[in-house]
Amino acid sequence: MIAIGCDHGGLNLKNAIVKYFDENGIEYKDYGTNTTDSVDYAPIGAKVAHSVASGENQCGILCCGTGIGISLAANKVKGIRAAVCTDAYCAEMTRRHNNANILCMGGRVITPETAVELTKIFLNTPFEGGRHQRRIDQIADIENGKL
Ligand code: RB5
Repeated sequence: MIAIGCDHGGLNLKNAIVKYFDENGIEYKDYGTNTTDSVDYAPIGAKVAHSVASGENQCGILCCGTGIGISLAANKVKGIRAAVCTDAYCAEMTRRHNNANILCMGGRVITPETAVELTKIFLNTPFEGGRHQRRIDQIADIENGKL
């Protein structure tokens, strides 16, 4: 299951991605928000991040105005590697090299069409492992106070 969430600044992107999921039979769990009323991004980022870190969901998509605030919130959760992406290259490489488990995007930065394109890339690109696993392990070492 894919976890998805946004604040009011990212609702346009979430709506487009959810439409793509619905049209293609892709299962997801929507953590809101679902209106344009102003809402804080940190609690929504936290809910999605905890659901991914616990294994309840396999990965996540988070959107806010820039993608940055909600990524900062998500990355506070141990085990989360949330990456802000604005183009196809970054969406591919953050899977190949960073094994990112949450894709973050900004509704005031990219179009809904681009967000759907980046989501497809993110969901369909494998982690390369090898030397990149060592680097992921070093990130975990930071979380565990070893680095
Ligand atoms: C909300 O106005 C905006 O600050 C938020 O969506 C996000 O861009 C923060 O990083």
